[in-house]
Amino acid sequence: MDHPLARLTAEEIRAARILLDHAGLLTKATRFAVLALEEPPKQEVLAFTEGEPIERRVRAVLLDSDTGRSRTVLASISRDEIDQVTDVDPAVDGQPPILLEEFGAADEIVKSDARWQAAMARRGITDLDLVCACPLSAGSFDVPGEPGRRMLRVLSFLQHHQSDHPWAHPIDGVVAYVDLTSQEVVELIDHETRPIPQEEANVDDPGYVGPARMTLRPIEIVQPQGRSFVVEGDVVRWEGWSLRIGFDAREGLVLHQIAFRDGERDRPIIYRASIAEMVVPYADPGPVRYWQNYFDAGEYLLGQQANSLTSGCDCVGDIHYLDVVVTDGDGAPREIQNAVCLHEEDFGVLWKHTDLFTGSAETRRQRRLAISFFVTVGNYDYGFYWYLYLDGTIALEVKTTGALFTSSYREGDEWASEVAPGLGAPYHQHLFCARLDMTIDGVTNAVEEIDVRREPVGPRNPQGNAFARSVTRLTRESDAARVAEPALGRSWHIVNPQQTNRLGRPVAYALYPQGQPTLLADESSSIARRAAFATRHLWVTRYDPAQRYPAGELVNQHPGGAGIPRWTAANRGLDGEDLVVWHTFGTTHIPRPEDWPVMPVDTCGFVLKPVGFFDRNPTLDVPPPFAPPCG
Ligand code: CU
Repeated sequence: MDHPLARLTAEEIRAARILLDHAGLLTKATRFAVLALEEPPKQEVLAFTEGEPIERRVRAVLLDSDTGRSRTVLASISRDEIDQVTDVDPAVDGQPPILLEEFGAADEIVKSDARWQAAMARRGITDLDLVCACPLSAGSFDVPGEPGRRMLRVLSFLQHHQSDHPWAHPIDGVVAYVDLTSQEVVELIDHETRPIPQEEANVDDPGYVGPARMTLRPIEIVQPQGRSFVVEGDVVRWEGWSLRIGFDAREGLVLHQIAFRDGERDRPIIYRASIAEMVVPYADPGPVRYWQNYFDAGEYLLGQQANSLTSGCDCVGDIHYLDVVVTDGDGAPREIQNAVCLHEEDFGVLWKHTDLFTGSAETRRQRRLAISFFVTVGNYDYGFYWYLYLDGTIALEVKTTGALFTSSYREGDEWASEVAPGLGAPYHQHLFCARLDMTIDGVTNAVEEIDVRREPVGPRNPQGNAFARSVTRLTRESDAARVAEPALGRSWHIVNPQQTNRLGRPVAYALYPQGQPTLLADESSSIARRAAFATRHLWVTRYDPAQRYPAGELVNQHPGGAGIPRWTAANRGLDGEDLVVWHTFGTTHIPRPEDWPVMPVDTCGFVLKPVGFFDRNPTLDVPPPFAPPCG
């Protein structure tokens, strides 16, 4: 390994498994829910110089499938030693994430249950091979006997044949509560029989879709001299930018040590950027689906669900792919080919001016480097696109697409849209939490909230035209739990109070939120306790290497209160400290008929822009377009 943050390799995963085995931590029933790189603390990484010895540690979450007991393990594969073993109390600490193999297990368990079979028979369904049993995270509710048990809840969908898309035919009114350890249906709620929508949704069937249009002529992205970025191992350099690519089974793509070359200096901006959590809470309060909310990172592991991408379809241009390695339930490495895509994109005009007086006319074109991956979690597909622009802008765009989660719709249903005849799509939110471990020109940072402010008419403002900014330093963690205010143009500046630009002002990057609704569930709800991060757009915490995930380490069935609410209760000072910014953003999805049978990409995200980080526009040296000559 050449760097402490290098991605865990297949060999290291194998070595870690052997180490845990030799330490007596594995039995035949042991399943690996997580095996990941334990990153060294930031100060160690920042102090690292090339060629120094590197210690490699891993973190594992082990589940005993016979007993349902689980434990977390920290181990050093460099020292060949187990550093820590912690038993998990699932009623208090939460459950390990859902394993891919448990999807199949849930299907078998419900299909062998007589009550569930009877519920299907009541709905006229006899061929159980055509029923897709959907393994859904159980959440944490006052269901008697449930705390401490490893649960899934199962809603089912019907296929007309083996290649028929099941989401079109929800078998509504019935839900099975499944214990994965005892492998039984603990409770079957057969609330009511609703009609099963019949219209199909087979977007891959030409007979359903109809003839393809013939009017689209090819668009080809040609880069005759190749791409402008350089990839050395996991380090990427492009137009002043440098960063290191990481990939985590839980967060997926991670960007480490994002810096921008300015003169002779590589100026750090973000030490580590990732989507550390996301949750999809649904709005239907009825007895069949009040519990529906999915933490796609903490419960299902975004990185584990990464797609293998295809050039020409998922990405166009001169593409560089990275294969990634995750771990399967046996603790063996599993490679996902072409999981991370890097490419450059033309992005329209960067700057332009035609001068009234001199006649000068100059145009430059913007470009961005896109670093992305796509996941499929059940019915939904999410693309995560980080963009670095020539002018120092950093943006994250999440593309949400795929199939809606569906219900049987009846007139007057308040919590769902009708998207096809008799087919409902319950309202829901997609709320993401970006963890932005900031290093604006170093680790001494502070955060300011910037609003625009109306000035009342008075001696200072006799004509009433005045407006100004109001700047509030967020000095403690309790002050830094904030919501966006679109009408005030609210943004947050991450500044380095010790580094100034040529105007003598602290260098800064601004976070511009989109300001869409935060969590809409009631404050007293289970999901508000479990996804407290989603109740605010912004949180700022003092850096602590153990504070990784905003809803806590083990999110699955966790009763709530972990992560951000627990950490910020310490109310640490934030002024001139090493800071992590947590930004919640996302969409509130009231499905449209046009979102069916497959949803055109919707986007959400945020933008970070330099504000006095540079001394002037850093793109004056971008040459005019190559060909054809402008003007
Ligand atoms: Cu949605």
